[in-house]
Amino acid sequence: MTSRPYPDDLPRHVAVIMDGNGRWAEARGLSRSDGHRAGVDAVRRVVRAADDLGIPWLTLYAFSSENWNRPKAEVDTLMRLPEEYFEQELPEAIERGTRILTIGRRDRLPPHTRATVEDAVARTREGRGMNLVFGLSYGGRGELVEAARRMLRDQEMGRLNPEALDEKTFAAYLDEPEMPDVDLLIRTGGESRVSNFLLWKIAYAEILFSERMWPEFDRAHLEAALGDFRNRERRYGLTSAQVRSGE
Ligand code: FPP
Repeated sequence: MTSRPYPDDLPRHVAVIMDGNGRWAEARGLSRSDGHRAGVDAVRRVVRAADDLGIPWLTLYAFSSENWNRPKAEVDTLMRLPEEYFEQELPEAIERGTRILTIGRRDRLPPHTRATVEDAVARTREGRGMNLVFGLSYGGRGELVEAARRMLRDQEMGRLNPEALDEKTFAAYLDEPEMPDVDLLIRTGGESRVSNFLLWKIAYAEILFSERMWPEFDRAHLEAALGDFRNRERRYGLTSAQVRSGE
């Protein structure tokens, strides 16, 4: 059963669909690549802010499994972003004790991207600060299918009894078993959809759709989103009266 953290001031897990880089760039006569680079700057700002604010888990949707279908030049740019980001940010991440993780199909990343990401993950493994997760070649349905595949393998090996399968056991087969449920999902860029992101973990997430394009998003917008979250009443299927009385 899902626990009830109400009243809960600070989300334990914030997830972000960073949309709007392309439109932000086009509106300024810039290239989409410029938009993605500005998106990396927003990542730098928001990661720092989230850590300063004490958010334990931050998950960023950097590249979806569907993004492979974009023009090759754009995919190539997107695949270089982790290098640009970690080259500058890894020393500070290590200093802050940030633990870098990824979800998604690392095996589909080009070798240079994969090597960069794996280096960042390995060098921050002992971090006990914020968990910073990048969705890379990630899709929620794909993650569920992979979980089912791992489960079937375990069953075949006699390590899993189908009768004992419950939500907790299932969740342990997802890409990052330690990741808690998402409390707050933010999507920038003015669209109101979840785009195959963290389908299992957003079951009870509060969702905030922002009109702002991702390259404009900063600490003040994150703080405003947290303020909005604080005012939400999380009910988990209960009545408002039950929640208020703490029954
Ligand atoms: C969607 O906006 C955004 C992406 C496909 C890429 C998001 C990536 C970043 C913000 C940077 C990631 C950073 C690291 C460190 C890996 P869009 O370009 O589709 O925007 P549009 O809808 O306006 O065209």
